[in-house]
Amino acid sequence: MIIAPSILNADNLNLQKDIKQAITAGISRFHIDIMDGHFVPNLSYGPELVSDFRQEFPASQLEIHLMSDKPDVLVPAFVKAGADMVELHYEAMDEDELNHWLDYLRQNQVNAGLVLNPDTPVTVLEKFMSKLDQVLLMTVYPGFGGQKFIPESRERIAQAVKLLKMADKKIPLEVDGGINGETAGLAKAAGAEIFVAGSYIFKNGNIAGQIKELEAILK
Ligand code: DX5
Ligand code: ZN
Repeated sequence: MIIAPSILNADNLNLQKDIKQAITAGISRFHIDIMDGHFVPNLSYGPELVSDFRQEFPASQLEIHLMSDKPDVLVPAFVKAGADMVELHYEAMDEDELNHWLDYLRQNQVNAGLVLNPDTPVTVLEKFMSKLDQVLLMTVYPGFGGQKFIPESRERIAQAVKLLKMADKKIPLEVDGGINGETAGLAKAAGAEIFVAGSYIFKNGNIAGQIKELEAILK
């Protein structure tokens, strides 16, 4: 099991401090939410945050959750900034574009992820499986941290895991949104292996303690 903290709900004015605490608590992968104010009604970071992160903490893996329908500008920019993985939304572009950008990531030795919103049928995964290193199922509608896990997600996770078993290689399933001490266990039981958590880790004043609790639940 992997815990990938989303820094969206960390303390923006003390980001370095929060990241260091998570690393000291054993975190090796971070989830960076990129919001463009168009595909989702919120704004977050640009590529400079990623290149600074990469420079300051070179051992951390950075997965970029790209909530944008402007891949032409942003995918190359985040690849250049040093992303280890870019996760593209199925809903953000047409299938030809999606194929193009998945190929682009492969050619640039960057891992490729596909993200599905809560109302996108998981069966769309079948068409792209050969190009994916990871699948991310949203367990809230994207745009904001601190939302509630959608209960129907459990069934979707199980369906997606079943589909992904048909691929030639192992494609792990990640969940994002409303993950806490209770919902992490539900998602794990349904088959998820990578857990994004934002407010649960960063909002209660004890980053290391929250990570330890989540680890204990996911053991
Ligand atoms: C929502 C983001 C999530 C979110 C997670 O659009 O993709 O990564 O920040 O935050 P919590 O864990 O608070 O739901
Ligand atoms: Zn995210």
